[in-house]
Amino acid sequence: MADSQAYDPASSAKLDTVTFVGQPLDRLDGVAKVTGQAKYAYEYQTRPPVRFGVIVEASIARGRILALDTTLAENAPGVRLVMTYLNAPKQGAFGQPAAINRNARARPVLADAEILYFGQPIALVVADSFEQARAAAALVRARFDRQQADLILKDHLDHAYRPERVGPGFAPDAAVGDFESAFAAAPVTVDATYDNAYQNHNPLEPHAALAQWDGDTLTAYVSQQNLATARAALAATLQIAPENVHLISRYIGGGFGSKLPINTEIVLASLAARVLGHSVKVALTRQQMFSNTGHRPAFRQRIRLGADQDGHLTSIAHEVWGQTARFEEFAEQTATFTRSLYAAPNRLTRHRLVPLDLQHGETMRAPGEAPGLLVFESAMDELATALGIDPVELRLRNEPNLDPELQVPFSSRRLATCLREGALRFGWDQRPKSPQSRREGRQLIGFGMSAGIRPNKIGKSSAQVTLRPDGGVTARLDMTDIGTGSYTILTQVAADAMGLPLAAVTIELGNSDFPETTGSGGSLGAGSACSAVYNACVVLRESVARSAIADARSPLYRAASADVVFRDGRAMVGNVSESLSDIGARSSQTGLSAIGTIEPGDTYRRYSQYSYAAYFAEVQVDMDTAEVRARRMLGVFDAGRILNAKTARSQLLGGMIWGLSASLYEEGVIDTRYGSFINRDLAGYHFATNADVPDIEVVMLDDVDHNSNPVGSKGVGELGICGSGAAIANAIFNATGVRVRSFPITLEKILVHLSN
Ligand code: MOS
Repeated sequence: MADSQAYDPASSAKLDTVTFVGQPLDRLDGVAKVTGQAKYAYEYQTRPPVRFGVIVEASIARGRILALDTTLAENAPGVRLVMTYLNAPKQGAFGQPAAINRNARARPVLADAEILYFGQPIALVVADSFEQARAAAALVRARFDRQQADLILKDHLDHAYRPERVGPGFAPDAAVGDFESAFAAAPVTVDATYDNAYQNHNPLEPHAALAQWDGDTLTAYVSQQNLATARAALAATLQIAPENVHLISRYIGGGFGSKLPINTEIVLASLAARVLGHSVKVALTRQQMFSNTGHRPAFRQRIRLGADQDGHLTSIAHEVWGQTARFEEFAEQTATFTRSLYAAPNRLTRHRLVPLDLQHGETMRAPGEAPGLLVFESAMDELATALGIDPVELRLRNEPNLDPELQVPFSSRRLATCLREGALRFGWDQRPKSPQSRREGRQLIGFGMSAGIRPNKIGKSSAQVTLRPDGGVTARLDMTDIGTGSYTILTQVAADAMGLPLAAVTIELGNSDFPETTGSGGSLGAGSACSAVYNACVVLRESVARSAIADARSPLYRAASADVVFRDGRAMVGNVSESLSDIGARSSQTGLSAIGTIEPGDTYRRYSQYSYAAYFAEVQVDMDTAEVRARRMLGVFDAGRILNAKTARSQLLGGMIWGLSASLYEEGVIDTRYGSFINRDLAGYHFATNADVPDIEVVMLDDVDHNSNPVGSKGVGELGICGSGAAIANAIFNATGVRVRSFPITLEKILVHLSN
C-alpha cells in the first residue's frame, strides 16, 4: 500500500489526539550512547583488513603544486598507499551535475594540482594503523607556486556581486514601496553598519567515514545529515550508479549543517578502498574540521530603520555583504527574515557576495538568521533608544497582521505572546532605565531583549511502517538522528498513530536503502519525518482494518471500515475488538506494510510560515576590565506543537547558548600569511563553556499549527540561535551605554568606550 499526496491542511489526515507526543521522554538511544553501545562511523568493524587514512593538507591559500615528494612516506612502516592528484582515480567534475541541490553534486578530492584554499587535501596516506599513517603523513613534502590571495572581506567589498539566489532559493533582492524617500523623510532613524566574524561548526564527533567495496558496490559508514543527497553526491563523484552506494549513518555526534554536504573524508576513504581492495577509514582531525568542513562566512551588514515619533516603522533596509569562495558560491539568506518580521510600508533587502581565496562557506546552524538577527535585533535596540520607547513595546507596535511582503496570513504567529509572556516572567519592568544606572560593586548591570524568527518548512519524505507478527510496528526511513532525538519523537508519533505503547514501536533510521527523507537539516527534519511516519501509519491502519474486516476469523469480520479505531494495541469497532498481535500473526505470511509520504503542497504560497521567539538577558559588565558575564537568560518560543518537551528544550537551550557564544566569543581569525584560521582548534577558537552559561530558562507556548504539517509542529532545531545573541548585546548596551557593532563583543571593544 502506498499513499503520496501534497499536504493540504483542509483535507489531509492530521494527528489530533495525542498521548505520547509532547511528553518529555528521555532519548530512547540515551543508554546506548552513554554505555558506548551506539556505534559511530569510525567505530565500525568491516571485513578485515581495515586500513587507516590520514589527510595531508596544503599550506597555502592559492596556487599550484609544483612538486610532491612522497618517497619517504611510501617507505615508512606499514604504509600501503600514498594517494595524490597524480595517482588518484578519475572523478566526476566538481559541482556536476548542476542539479538544484548543491549537496547532491560531485565533490572530487585530489583532482588536480590547483590549490584553492588553505587546508585543501594534497595527499591521503593509508597504512595498517592510524599511528603509522599519521607518522608517514608528516613525511610528505610539497613545493607550491604560491599566488596572491584575497583574504579579508572588508578589503574587497568593491568586488561584491549579486548572487542569483540566496539560501535554498530566495531572491537576493527585494523591495516594497520607496525605501529611500521614506527613510529620508523619517523623523527618527538608525543607520548602522555591523560586522560578523567567521564561525566554525565543530560537532563532538568529527567527520568520519569507513568505506568497503564489494565489486562495484560501495558500503560506507558515514556521519552525514542527509543520506539521499550524500548518496547522489558520492555517486556523482565516484562515477558510479547511486544504487551501488549504500550509506549507513545510525548515530551522529552532531552536525550543525557541516554534515549536509559530503566532505573530503568520505571521498578519500572510498577512493583509497577501491584502489587497495581493502576497507579504509578516514576521520578529520579537529584542526582539519576548521579547514575542510566549511564555515559560517564573515559578513558586513548595514541596517537602516526609519520610524515616526510613535515608533511605527516607515522604512526598513537590510543589506548584507558576505564572503564566498572563489571556487564555490555559498550565499546565506542573511536578510530574508527581515521581509517578514516587522510591518513597514517601505522595505528593502539585498545580499551581495565577496569572493575570497578561502574555503567555501557552509550551512551552519540557522544559516542566515543567526548572523542576520544578531545584527538586525541590535539595530532595533538602537532605534528603541533613539525613540525613547521600551524595546518590547517597539516590537509590539510593529507587529504585522499579514506577512508584510507576501501579503498572506501567517500559518500561526504568536510573537506578541512570546514578547509579553517573556517580559512578565523575566521581570522586564525591573530593567535599568538608562545605561550605567545600576551597579553592584564594580559590576554594571543591564537587561536586554530581542525577537527571533526562523522559516518553517517541510521537505518531501517517505517512511515504511510494517505491522509485525507480535503486534508491534517497525518504521524504516533514511532519516538521521544527529543527536536531536529523531528516534524518540518518531517512536512517540508512531505509538500515538497506531494506538500502541512506546515499547511496541521500533524505529530504524540512517540507512540509504530505506525510503527517502529530507534528513536532518534546516529545522525541517522533525516535522517532515514525523509526518511521513504518521502518513504511513494512516495507510497501515486502513490495511490492517481491511485485513481484519475481510477475515472470517476476526471478531471484526464484516465491520464497517470507517468505524475502526486503534487503541491500547487493538483495532476496535464499538465494543468488538481484535489485538494487533492477532492480526499481525495472522498476516505474517503476506505481511501488512505501508509507505507514507509527505510532500509540501501550496501552503507556502497561502501562508507565511515561521517559528518565533522572544529572548531576555541580564548581564554584568566589569567597570574596570569590561569582562561580560551573562547572569540569566529566558527564551519564550512559538514552535507549534512540541513533539517532545525534553528534546525540544535541549535544542532551544543549545541554540540560546550558541547565541550567547556568537555574541561574546566566537571568531575565526584569518592568518593573512597562509589563508588559514589561526585559531583552528578548540583552545584557540573560543566558545561558551559550562562556566560561561548562566541560568537559562526555556518556555514553549502550547500550540498546534496544522497549516504547517500533519503533526502540527514547527521547526525548533535552529530557532534558539536566531536572535538570542542580540539580547546579550542589547543587555551590554543597557549596562554600559557602549554599542559594539562588531561581533563577537570582546572586552577590548567595550573597554575603549567605557567611561566611568
Ligand atoms: Mo542545519 S545548518 O540545517 O544542520
